Amino acid sequence: MELAKKLVFVLNGQKTQVDLSQIHPATTLLSYLRCHTQYKGAKLGCGEGGCGACVVHLSKYNTDTKETEEFSISSCLTLLGSIDGCSITTSEGLGNCRDGHHAIHKRVSGFHASQCGYCTPGWCMSLYGALRQAEAKGKHDHRQGFSKFSVLEAEKAIAGNLCRCTGYRPIADVCKSFAGDVDLEDLGLNTFWKKNEVPDPNKLPEYNSIGLSTNSKFCRKSCEDSIRPTLNFSYKDEFSGEERVWIRPSSLDDILGALEKAVKENVEPKLVVGNTSAGIYKNIEPKVFIDISNISELQVIRRHDSEIEVGAAVTISKLIEALEDTNAIADDVLDNGKVIPTRNLVFEGIANHLKKVASGYIRNTASIGGNIIMAKKFSFDSDVATILLGINASVKIIISERTESLLTMEEFLDKTCLDSGTLLLSVYIPYWNEIRNPVEDSGINGNSDICENLLFKTYRAAPRPLGNAVSYVNAACLAQIYPSRRQGNLVAKSLRLAFGAFGVRHAIRATSVEEFLVDRAISPAILLEAIEMLKLHVIPVEGTRKSAYRQSVAVGFLFDFLSPLVKEVVPPRIIDSVQVNNSQNGNTPNCGKWPCKPKSITAGKQTMEFHHEYNPVGQPSPKVAAELQASGEAVFVDDIPSPDNCLYGAFVYSKKALALIKKVGVKDAFQSPSVVSYITFTDIPKQGRNIGLDGFFGEDILLAEETVECFGQPIGLMVADTWHDAKRAADKVTIDYDCETLGPPILSVEDAVAKNSFYQVPGWMAPKPIGDLAKGMSEADIRIESAEVRMGSQYYFYLETQTVLAIPDEDECMTVYSACQSPDIIQKTIAKCLGIPIHNVRVITRRVGGGFGGKACRSVPIAVTCALAAYKLKRPVRMYLDRKTDMIITGGRHPIKAIYTVGLKNDASITAMHVDLFIDAGHTVDLSPMLPLNIVSTMKKYNWGALSFDYKVCKTNLPSKSAMRAPGEAQGSFIAETIIEHVAEILSLDPAVVREKNMHTLESTKLFYGSCVKSSIDYTFPSILEKLKQSASLNERMENIRDFNVANRWFKRGLSWVPCFYPVRLQSRPARVTVFKDGSIAVEVGGVELGQGIWTKVKQMTAYALGQLWPGLSGDIMAKVRIIQADSISLAHGGLTASSTTSEQSCEAVRQACNILIERLQPVQTLLNKRNPNGFSWMDLIFQAQLQSVDLSAQTYWVPDSSASQYLNYGAAATEVEVDLLSGATTIIQTDIIYDCGRSLNPAVDLGQIEGAFVQGVGFFMTEEHVVDKNGKLVSDGTWTYKVPTIDTIPQKFNVELLNSPLHQARILSSKASGEPPLLLASSVHCAIREAIRAARKELATNNNKHFRMDSPATMDVIKSLCGLDSIELYLKSLSISSKQ
Ligand SMILES: Cc1cc2nc3c(=O)[nH]c(=O)nc-3n(C[C@H](O)[C@H](O)[C@H](O)COP(=O)(O)OP(=O)(O)OC[C@H]3O[C@@H](n4cnc5c(N)ncnc54)[C@H](O)[C@@H]3O)c2cc1C
Ligand code: FES
Ligand code: FES
Repeated sequence: MELAKKLVFVLNGQKTQVDLSQIHPATTLLSYLRCHTQYKGAKLGCGEGGCGACVVHLSKYNTDTKETEEFSISSCLTLLGSIDGCSITTSEGLGNCRDGHHAIHKRVSGFHASQCGYCTPGWCMSLYGALRQAEAKGKHDHRQGFSKFSVLEAEKAIAGNLCRCTGYRPIADVCKSFAGDVDLEDLGLNTFWKKNEVPDPNKLPEYNSIGLSTNSKFCRKSCEDSIRPTLNFSYKDEFSGEERVWIRPSSLDDILGALEKAVKENVEPKLVVGNTSAGIYKNIEPKVFIDISNISELQVIRRHDSEIEVGAAVTISKLIEALEDTNAIADDVLDNGKVIPTRNLVFEGIANHLKKVASGYIRNTASIGGNIIMAKKFSFDSDVATILLGINASVKIIISERTESLLTMEEFLDKTCLDSGTLLLSVYIPYWNEIRNPVEDSGINGNSDICENLLFKTYRAAPRPLGNAVSYVNAACLAQIYPSRRQGNLVAKSLRLAFGAFGVRHAIRATSVEEFLVDRAISPAILLEAIEMLKLHVIPVEGTRKSAYRQSVAVGFLFDFLSPLVKEVVPPRIIDSVQVNNSQNGNTPNCGKWPCKPKSITAGKQTMEFHHEYNPVGQPSPKVAAELQASGEAVFVDDIPSPDNCLYGAFVYSKKALALIKKVGVKDAFQSPSVVSYITFTDIPKQGRNIGLDGFFGEDILLAEETVECFGQPIGLMVADTWHDAKRAADKVTIDYDCETLGPPILSVEDAVAKNSFYQVPGWMAPKPIGDLAKGMSEADIRIESAEVRMGSQYYFYLETQTVLAIPDEDECMTVYSACQSPDIIQKTIAKCLGIPIHNVRVITRRVGGGFGGKACRSVPIAVTCALAAYKLKRPVRMYLDRKTDMIITGGRHPIKAIYTVGLKNDASITAMHVDLFIDAGHTVDLSPMLPLNIVSTMKKYNWGALSFDYKVCKTNLPSKSAMRAPGEAQGSFIAETIIEHVAEILSLDPAVVREKNMHTLESTKLFYGSCVKSSIDYTFPSILEKLKQSASLNERMENIRDFNVANRWFKRGLSWVPCFYPVRLQSRPARVTVFKDGSIAVEVGGVELGQGIWTKVKQMTAYALGQLWPGLSGDIMAKVRIIQADSISLAHGGLTASSTTSEQSCEAVRQACNILIERLQPVQTLLNKRNPNGFSWMDLIFQAQLQSVDLSAQTYWVPDSSASQYLNYGAAATEVEVDLLSGATTIIQTDIIYDCGRSLNPAVDLGQIEGAFVQGVGFFMTEEHVVDKNGKLVSDGTWTYKVPTIDTIPQKFNVELLNSPLHQARILSSKASGEPPLLLASSVHCAIREAIRAARKELATNNNKHFRMDSPATMDVIKSLCGLDSIELYLKSLSISSKQ
């Protein structure tokens, strides 16, 4: 085998050659880009194809078609060997600050669509890919300056990209702004046209369709030149000591030869097409990689008489395209010259379903063959296999000795044994419309699922409607139907019912059901019988999560599919022409028909006033560095080039929840010469201490000594020459545990209570009860006794995981670059751990890819461990936690159990409430003692009469829980709403009535919140609520919902509003402002830029404050300010960036520093005024000041006035949802928020905070399920199992209004906080779901109108269970009984 020396590809327009002897064939494109090039725009967010942070654009010359194909790909899964001869463009290649940014980058900035910026380059590239595709294949008319894709297509293009900061609405606006059918009036707040101005397309940054590098002819030429038929290389893997081989054969024959060789040598080769399976099956380390992506026979899409042949290496995207465009498949002309019908229901159905498989950037490389091989070999929960089974597809494979076999999907999945030499050649999709027997009008025209006499539907129940989530259960059902003359009914002539992904080895057919139903008139009783038979097929294997739910959904699918054939049944998906008038934007499913095509996934209105008294403060200035973030030039910690000699660390952590460590075995790990050291607590210097967090409430241990106290507790750090080797070495460490001596771990609050395992809450942190509980209870007419509600945990899911770089310096000093929320805490903890003075440690944080509290304390032990390794080894060490490790060790939000007793009067006024709180704090104290105070602070949002509580902060053997955005406040608010809902149910009242009845007056607010509220100026809530009722037309919509619910049996809607009361406290902050000789200004603040926009607000404040020197100066200053990274030595005592108030505190500190400068500059100004009566410039002033030796650097430490250091934030939100009772899926139809953030310092930034927080709350209350198994191990440990909201799970209509607040002396320029409080408003989604369920329970055969408990999150299975997993059976039973009567 001839080996190639170089791999050649074009990177951002530059021909790039890679020495193949240095490349492990398992090297991903992302890893190469990040480790070996200057392009860091593609980020590692998950490494499993689930987040989109790594998306880049690929152009490839197709030697068969002689055309260049282009599409977006996930660089974290694409192997470097696969891109030989291709051109890769990263976001930097689209545009950059030297050559000019691309229109996408500029629109990101102008639509305020980037916050932390870590996700931004990825989705810029997804959008770019869609733009390029539309250019080549777009179906819509070309509109000058716009793309050929539609608004909906534009949004769908980024449906697989995650963003944890923005809430997606502004990102959607960027995408839509390119769409040919966009109505610019629909786009949100932006800098291109002013509010109330008629939008002008010419003001949008010009879209000239191509990026800088993809435009290059050179790039295309280089690609063509680099094409070569084969590429073989081999690499000696030092770690395993084995040879790893990459083969790219040039013919089918060569593939078979390579497979035969592999079989002979007894190695399991990896056949590579897209390599997307590596996102799922991560621990497979193949020795031989055979790249089969370039073989013509495997790429074919060819139409035959009765079927379409699809080569195994055809990507899902290409198949969708082909199925949608029947002509495209037909280039060979039908073998028998038959006419092709214009519509093919089966093809359409398959294409629509495939569009929900993974996400665009995965489908572009993921092959059909790879998918069904995964289904077969690894029991992967495939959609493709289920569909192919449902439509009676067949496959051609070559097993061994080159024998071809044509197998039905059943034979393939069930009977065939694949060996390592098996090659899947092609898939055959039967052309169903061709084999039909024309029959007379079936009488069911108008049902879009029925074409001629064919009924075909596919299903998937998944946490995300548009994909990027494998399904809990999927199905493909097909029937040929005809009207039975005998019975006057429709009957199925042939039937195929395939179900998969429900916890089964592979997709199955419900054959007994098929046989039972064929040729039968289906009555409710027959359908019921069929359902009972189906349940015998759909039996998840033992241990499958949500088993009963999955089975019940499968029943729902069958019911849905067959309902058109059962006269008596109310069809699930037909809305009885109810016109509900909240569909102004044509965006909701209320169009009277089902399914109706929404024009866009999400839209919204933003209402706010801009105030000019503190210009430019108060203006919606674009986010500082937004374009740099979009282009990927913004530098995050992991983007800092590794210093010479740099090492990499990977944690070895406990795999037991509570145990003694008997022995640690590291011998195997040290087999590789790349492994340098294993760091443990014994490496802590004698003068230091084993401390991982020097926190507010105590100290956390750094590395376990004799015992481990939770699954995921760090025990040691493997240090190696590369990140991958460190990881692999860590995996090789063996640990013997003694799990007996210490007894069973504490894994629940109940266990903690039983074992008295608690943390103490200091007196100053303890919340105070209000009123006289006994008296309040005695006044009550009714009591709710000891009712319970629970809230789960939530993982931060910042897109940038924990990352750090530690560089030892002279004289026992250490510089640490950390993605953290408090350089301060890290600095002092490192000093304590190493036993060195604090001034020896410098911690620098430029920007952080999202924190949400997870980088407040949880980043500290990681930075300290890294510093310890660097200290010991006297070499730079860097760490970047992979997503799984990050999820396992960093904990998250506190799970809470609340037990409440409430006293109420018959008129719904609550007289007293007592709550027992059980807070799961995990194995270290962290910030947990503050939880009771925080919980109670938001629980107080209603006037409970008397309020008392008891709390237990439980020490459990789970990873330490820390502050997460609105820590405790989110839960407190939820508990309050749960109680209100409970009271409403007891009294059979609308919860809104109970809310209003118990709403605070100014006086009761003062009683509950003390000095936070002083006068009616402070109490804006009543006006917020009144406005909300009007602007969201609450009463009218409530009426419509009632009508809708009467008309729809299987879809129910609910509408609910909730208030938010959220106290905050201001802290001291430092700031320094320095003016340089050229008039440029550097500003340092204690707060860290996490995406919350602190730099933008600080910049505006600097311009405003220095602008006081003379009118019109602020504009000049804005252009001269640069905000500098947080640095614990340069600007000490920066504090913790948390609690929503860091921006305003930092702004005030900056204003004071500017005032000092102004004081120093004023004498100079007076002098210049005299000399230059016609005026002078900022530069003149600074020049003169320097001549006069004025100190142009001013530092302050702002301390808030204690009388005004606390205030209350208010908001309210109303949400309408629609629940699909068959699957439990929820659609958020509309959310309206009104929020008071005072006179906003920057309305665009605050709007972003409000929307982003709300959507994070939607995750907490609806989709994010943090699951721990009975051994204390986190189950939801990646993007596969943990589902943060995506663009398709946010409100379809998302309206936000900033209250036009009056000036307020005690606030910083009259502003208020916006970072955390709006998260609480997302409980309106939970409450609205509850309303929908209530409507369902009233009506469904369960007829259960009693109170029901609904914990958080309300996931699909929770919702469906509450509506009755057997609701269909009960419904059919009731129909059968009534038909008998
Ligand atoms: C984030 C993400 C989400 C996903 N979501 C879904 C989903 O919702 N529904 C769904 O159905 N799928 C989903 N998938 C699976 C995806 O469709 C498959 O990973 C993909 O189709 C595999 O194709 P590939 O070309 O990347 O295979 P590769 O990774 O290249 O190969 C996969 C396996 O198949 C073998 N193989 C490949 N081709 C052949 C062949 N011709 N003959 C014999 N063996 C072969 C390889 O040796 C390997 O073992 C998802 C994947 C990802 C990464
Ligand atoms: S890093 Fe590639 S998809 Fe997440
Ligand atoms: S801006 Fe999207 S993750 Fe931060």
